[in-house]
Amino acid sequence: MPKENQAKKATNSNLRKANKEKNDEFYTQLPDIERELFHYKEHFKGKTIFCNCDDPEESNFFRYFALNFEKLGLTKVITTHFEKDKSSYKLELEHDLNDDGRINELDRFKTPFKQNGDFRSPESIEILKSCDIVVTNPPFSLFREYVAQLIEYDKKFVIIGSLNAITYKEIFSLIKENKLWIGYGFLGGNAYFKTPATKEFASGVYSEETGLVKFRNVTWFTNLEIQKRHEEMTLFRKYHESEYLKYDNHEAINVDKIKDIPDDFDGVMGVPITFLDKYNPNQFELLGIMNTGEENKGIRYENTPHGRPIINGVEKYLRILIKRRNKGQKYENRA
Ligand SMILES: C[S@@+](CC[C@H](N)C(=O)[O-])C[C@H]1O[C@@H](n2cnc3c(N)ncnc32)[C@H](O)[C@@H]1O
Repeated sequence: MPKENQAKKATNSNLRKANKEKNDEFYTQLPDIERELFHYKEHFKGKTIFCNCDDPEESNFFRYFALNFEKLGLTKVITTHFEKDKSSYKLELEHDLNDDGRINELDRFKTPFKQNGDFRSPESIEILKSCDIVVTNPPFSLFREYVAQLIEYDKKFVIIGSLNAITYKEIFSLIKENKLWIGYGFLGGNAYFKTPATKEFASGVYSEETGLVKFRNVTWFTNLEIQKRHEEMTLFRKYHESEYLKYDNHEAINVDKIKDIPDDFDGVMGVPITFLDKYNPNQFELLGIMNTGEENKGIRYENTPHGRPIINGVEKYLRILIKRRNKGQKYENRA
């Protein structure tokens, strides 16, 4: 296997391992937070921000909002700390407590919790109800539940999660319904997190020198408007029947690379899941996903080894089904 693929495999398996072993201690670096949140500045003005999966003493999310409290025109920042078996606390930043003429980290104040700071605990949910925007890197192992709670309480959010989450039927449905989309992402698609769990990783993935572990398959998810989502992909290829094979088990053509999506094809196309990183709902309609590996009514094929699309009897990788929108046709905007 080429070296590059080996590295990819190792970094992806980190995520599976983290999920399986429920190692959720991966701390996001300040430059990564700055690079992503730069695109959301206008949304933060006058808002209360809640970081509900953050050890405030460690969290660069809290640090980012404390450093930029005045510049962003924030109203309040609240972070909560999670403890497995004991009560915890919240940390807030709102006023110039020390009267030095500025609101920054020095003005934070701590309030003990009766509960353990679990994002599902009643104390944490009370804060969730009162906040405007949730910004954090939640535990990878609880991502579905975490997102479900944000949707239940109708919250705006910018959060980090695994790209694989796209294939969870709940998450895919939210993307399809335009209730969640992919943010700008990590530099070069590589996310480096600080972790105290150093022994678990394959060599070359964890660096003792930096104390960072590399994940390739992680990105930002949001439901805040960003420019990226309105940029149209420039497509160069034209459709030729001989170059775009049809699936044996679905009325659609197969496209293996995003850059090869034909500009002039009006039918259904199966594309890799990385398409969602470029997805502009005014340019394409999202129709479904071909096999999620779990119950996915409608587009799962019972007579194939993995329920995936087949071409000339050979099963392909998982594909997302899309269709070009007619020029001038817009997607239904959300309320
Ligand atoms: C991926 S880490 C990210 C930490 C921090 N948000 C950051 O990016 O630096 C997820 C954090 O969520 C915490 N956590 C785990 N389970 C939790 C729960 N049920 N409720 C709240 N936080 C939890 C973990 O202790 C861990 O610190």
